[in-house]
Amino acid sequence: MSKSLENLKNAFASKPQANRRYIAFAGKAEEESLPQVARLFRAAAESESIHALNHIRIMGEVKTTIDNLNAALSGETYEFRTMYPEYLNVAKKEGNQQVAWSFDVADKVEQIHAGLFSKAIETLKTGKKLDSVDYYICSICGNTVEGQAPEKCPICGPQNKVLQGNLRITVGQRPILKLCHSNSRGNNRQPQVALRNSHSGGRGFKSRPAYKTPF
Ligand code: FE2
Ligand code: FE2
Repeated sequence: MSKSLENLKNAFASKPQANRRYIAFAGKAEEESLPQVARLFRAAAESESIHALNHIRIMGEVKTTIDNLNAALSGETYEFRTMYPEYLNVAKKEGNQQVAWSFDVADKVEQIHAGLFSKAIETLKTGKKLDSVDYYICSICGNTVEGQAPEKCPICGPQNKVLQGNLRITVGQRPILKLCHSNSRGNNRQPQVALRNSHSGGRGFKSRPAYKTPF
């Protein structure tokens, strides 16, 4: 790999982080009644996304849609089968419940993403197109639901509000930190629940979330 390509990959890896960091910062600026600073952060976040898109296109990693779906499925599968379970174990060993919560819900949502990508691949293989449906994203845990939103998010807990809305409602329009803080439970408290539901391959999120939302 040439040094330029290596640099491009490194730059690409950092851009989504900058994007999300600025979105988080924008939410905080809004909480502090600094709307113009929030706009500045959102503008910079959008710009970082454009840089990331330039980088990935030049890297040649945008291929045909079936290739892209397979790449997405492979990445999601690695995350929910290997990466997040390992990270979660470390967080549990270190007793860091907030980190454990974040890894735990991400792990469960990546499994859902993998399922959705897999279903899309199977549909395209038959020569059909996907049905036109909405996707609902939970503003707390990122749960991604196709078709109709359930009353409450089954991953991050019955205490949380209904899923945020369909894809036309973006995080950019409704700052995620503000939504998290609108949760009726106490803000910024340490989660009260011990790590009693050990993470297993069984994915028990349909019955009860393993951790309380730490926001
Ligand atoms: Fe994912
Ligand atoms: Fe959720």
